[in-house]
Amino acid sequence: MTTVNHTPVAVIGAGPAGLMLSHLLHLRGVETVVFEARSRETVEATVRAGVLEQGTMRLMRETGIGERMDREADVDEGIEIAINGVRTRIALTELTGHAMAVYPQHEVLIDLIAQREKDNGTVLFETRVDDVTGYDDDRVTVSYTNPDGSHGVLTCDYVVVADGSASPWRQPVTEVAGGARFRHEYPYAWFGILVNGPQTQKELIYANHDDGFALISTRSESVQRYYLQCDPEDTTDMWSDDRIWEALHTRVDGEDLSVAEGEIFDKAVLRFRSAVTAPMQRGRLFLAGDAAHTVPPTGAKGLNLAVADVAALVPGLVHALQGDDQRLQAYTDLALPRVWKAQHFSYWMSSMLHHNPKASPFESQRRLAELSAVLGSEAGRRFLAEQYVGLDLPDFRI
Ligand code: DHB
Repeated sequence: MTTVNHTPVAVIGAGPAGLMLSHLLHLRGVETVVFEARSRETVEATVRAGVLEQGTMRLMRETGIGERMDREADVDEGIEIAINGVRTRIALTELTGHAMAVYPQHEVLIDLIAQREKDNGTVLFETRVDDVTGYDDDRVTVSYTNPDGSHGVLTCDYVVVADGSASPWRQPVTEVAGGARFRHEYPYAWFGILVNGPQTQKELIYANHDDGFALISTRSESVQRYYLQCDPEDTTDMWSDDRIWEALHTRVDGEDLSVAEGEIFDKAVLRFRSAVTAPMQRGRLFLAGDAAHTVPPTGAKGLNLAVADVAALVPGLVHALQGDDQRLQAYTDLALPRVWKAQHFSYWMSSMLHHNPKASPFESQRRLAELSAVLGSEAGRRFLAEQYVGLDLPDFRI
């Protein structure tokens, strides 16, 4: 049996972009239906990055979903950048007036889902979207398959595609005249581990070393998150625990600091990619978050950029549903400059901090000089700090 319903805005994907959009639209009096192919358990347990920009923290607090973050997140007023074991502190708060929070993405999703539930929002887990049509006309139709195999049809005024970097629904946007997908591949990847063990130190360490990059992050006082630069073709079985600890000590340890070891309970290889789709819209279909753009992990901009997209999109949708779609038509122009700035920052941090196996000796020396120049200048440290804590978000209430 096929059921047909109507909603103002259909959202494909219950990640940071889709759930935050649904939450913010609710606060503006607009209801949504969110489709998610994965189960709620999978969404709430998938490990991703963990840094929240100041604007994301503020938005979570202002919209009633910041309580657990304020209780549990590790808020830091600085980060450190190491060159062969010698660390320089970037005093984020002193330089920008803002701190950042280490609060993993899946915790943000747990908080968003709980709030959507409290507000009687509709989030359909284990529900696969089969087709999206009509976005060039007056009314969009979304066909889907329920967890029990039955089919449903939802009509809506607008559809927002927020189902991640492999989204099959991006295609119509890249097909428009002038539509493009810009890409960049990097010659390295990260080997990420989760560790039961004590913190190495409270503040994050981004470590540049001749052997390759390493990052010391945290999840709590007893769970740590560490990353090591590896080859994109590496597999988890190539990195024994002993090899991991040896590499972390070599790349991070300094005179006054040694990486705290523990029991490794998760290993994964993370790919490095940049991609931008432009425009981010076609007719009544809009892209948000990773469905529109992907950043490499250095600097952890992915979730924050997804939140910025939807903060820009919400006023457009609200006004359009009231009959004025000027702001909605300008969505790409509002969102894209920030996307490119985040691309630049992620690319810049990545290329400045990683050993590039394909670089010429000249390029490797130039890169180290760039890193020392940035760290040695207050203006350089401030620029890095401003980008790291993030630019202010668009106002979703206008
Ligand atoms: C984390 C990930 C990042 O990409 C980063 O820059 C900092 C922290 C993390 O997962 O903790």
